[in-house]
Amino acid sequence: MAQRDTASNSYLVVFGNQDSRRLPGIDNRMLLQDRSKPLAVNLSGDRSYAIVFDELDRLTVAMRQANVRPGKVLVITDTNVAGHYRGRLDSLLKSDGWDPLILTLPAGEMTKSPKHLHAIYNAALAWKIDRQTPILAFGGGVVGDLAGYAAATLLRGLPFVQVPTSLIAQVDSAIGGKTGINHEEGKNLIGAFHQPKLVFVDPKLLYTLPRREWHSGLAEVVKHALIRDEAFFAWIESSINHVVARHPDVVPDLVYRAASIKAGVVSRDEKEHGERMILNFGHTVGHAVEKALGYGVFTHGEAIILGMRAAILISRRFNRGLEQSRVESVLGQIPLPKIPPTLSLPEVREAMNTDKKRDRSSLRFVLLKRVGAAYVTNDVGEADIDAALAHALGRPF
Ligand code: GLY
Repeated sequence: MAQRDTASNSYLVVFGNQDSRRLPGIDNRMLLQDRSKPLAVNLSGDRSYAIVFDELDRLTVAMRQANVRPGKVLVITDTNVAGHYRGRLDSLLKSDGWDPLILTLPAGEMTKSPKHLHAIYNAALAWKIDRQTPILAFGGGVVGDLAGYAAATLLRGLPFVQVPTSLIAQVDSAIGGKTGINHEEGKNLIGAFHQPKLVFVDPKLLYTLPRREWHSGLAEVVKHALIRDEAFFAWIESSINHVVARHPDVVPDLVYRAASIKAGVVSRDEKEHGERMILNFGHTVGHAVEKALGYGVFTHGEAIILGMRAAILISRRFNRGLEQSRVESVLGQIPLPKIPPTLSLPEVREAMNTDKKRDRSSLRFVLLKRVGAAYVTNDVGEADIDAALAHALGRPF
């Protein structure tokens, strides 16, 4: 919540137990948001859940409030996150009566595999879990998706708690119940919807995130603003240096707002029959770039930045009111590695066609009518796609 501090004419930003004064140049009033209000994903039946913003040390309080009661808990994490937080999480759980088994898997996309899924099954079954034993994902998108799929499938479904530790996970992948693993044929081809009982977000965990991962997550944050929230985009634009630098005066507001957009979209369209598709803004080209480069060369977020550039050019062709240079200027501030000269545009097109066949559709694009308003279309011509690819990748076709 932003409160006026008349003596110094500045603003006090209240977040959990931490207060910080705003710096010149950042106007959090633009967001008109009160971060003390918990967010929720609202679903049918008793499947709604809270997205709680608080310090990690209060995780077990939130678990009790979500009706996840002490007993055994299987924690899935990775080597990077465990290096920073394993001891703290272990003592926290034990001090509140939990009996944790912490499984630390190798960090990286390769871990979203049948092999590591089976490692979780083996550990869980050898430890004699029962249907009430929760799985707690403590990590980024890879850990969340993998642990969530284990929770969806073990004993026909276990309670699941998400404690996302990367920006991409806090604002996107941990919210909405998409879980799964990769197959040689492509990413996320095996999976299920399995909603968590709780998503617990501590933005302070993001200060230990590698810088490249922060920038990668910003791609999804800007995407959320572009598809649904003009005021948020204007705030990002006005504080872009602080946003890119991960300044503590912007991080909590940024995460809260981006997560609230995701929560709203999945509450209205859980299974991606309509509105949820707009979360794929930048993904038609982005996925193809990721695949054509070879997974791991660009991060997901980096590929999505290129995909958004392409989608913006196409959008502008159909919607003259879209402020293309304004959007490109914000995207241009997010550091991006050099595009390897080996990336071939025909290979990107080929990868796009594989996705298209899988969807049994013509090539589907999410486009922007204007900043803050997106729509889905199958009606983009080949020449426009080629021109957009050449523009996004900075080379002729
Ligand atoms: N990350 C896109 C979705 O959850 O639908």
